[in-house]
Amino acid sequence: MRRPYVRVYATISIDGKIASKTGDSRLSCPYDKLRLHSMRSVVDGVMVGANTIIKDDPQLTVRLVEGRNPVRIVVDGSLKIPLNARVLDVSTAPTIIITSSVAETWKVEQLRRLGVDVVIVESESTQVDMSKALEILYEKNLKDLLVEGGGTLLWSLVSQKLINEFRITISPYVIGGKDSVSLVEGEGFGNMSEWLKLKLINHKICRCGDEIHLVYRVED
Ligand SMILES: NC(=O)c1ccc[n+]([C@@H]2O[C@H](COP(=O)([O-])OP(=O)(O)OC[C@H]3O[C@@H](n4cnc5c(N)ncnc54)[C@H](OP(=O)(O)O)[C@@H]3O)[C@@H](O)[C@H]2O)c1
Repeated sequence: MRRPYVRVYATISIDGKIASKTGDSRLSCPYDKLRLHSMRSVVDGVMVGANTIIKDDPQLTVRLVEGRNPVRIVVDGSLKIPLNARVLDVSTAPTIIITSSVAETWKVEQLRRLGVDVVIVESESTQVDMSKALEILYEKNLKDLLVEGGGTLLWSLVSQKLINEFRITISPYVIGGKDSVSLVEGEGFGNMSEWLKLKLINHKICRCGDEIHLVYRVED
């Protein structure tokens, strides 16, 4: 089956965290934000997990550069994001919510009344099979996706080897802590034979001064 090309964009501390234990994720410098907005302007869709919506309430639109807004995609197996989340304002850009078939019907209807496209992926729990979800998005003509996190969503993509490219900015902070959020959460791989192997494609010192931007392609 055909699936979109999936790029991850994330800004991490040097110890691989994307947010602290209190949920503070302000790791991006101004130039990094600009680069993220430029990326958003050239992809078909930008995807995040439900906790990122709950914690950060992002708009996921293009504001810092000229360009068109991508389709916003939120993966929310239990439909827990609040109805006043900014991503649900479809007057700025279209929004797709990917959910499971165990999500409550009244919640699906509420979201559809807001003009949101709710995609229900057949499942036995709130966990959505992301390979099925990506096939559906490809059918909707979304062929180039930018995934902005968080760590739980990334694990559901990494664990099924559904990511093609990582664009990572390393920001000059150390966060530490077992309760902070790592770039990739979930249960993690065991032996090296399972790990995702990457190829470095590009690296740049960020114009802000203390950040490095890395582009890695996932090897087959
Ligand atoms: N520094 C950065 O670049 C960056 C970028 C993005 C986010 N963040 C930070 O990351 C934190 C959030 O990360 P997180 O790991 O807690 O959460 P997350 O990945 O944003 O969201 C996890 C939730 O999304 C839903 N979800 C993800 N994959 C799913 C799947 N395959 N099937 C069904 N539902 C799925 C689940 O919702 P249900 O429980 O409803 O099933 C899950 O609880 C926030 O603090 C945010 O600020 C940082």
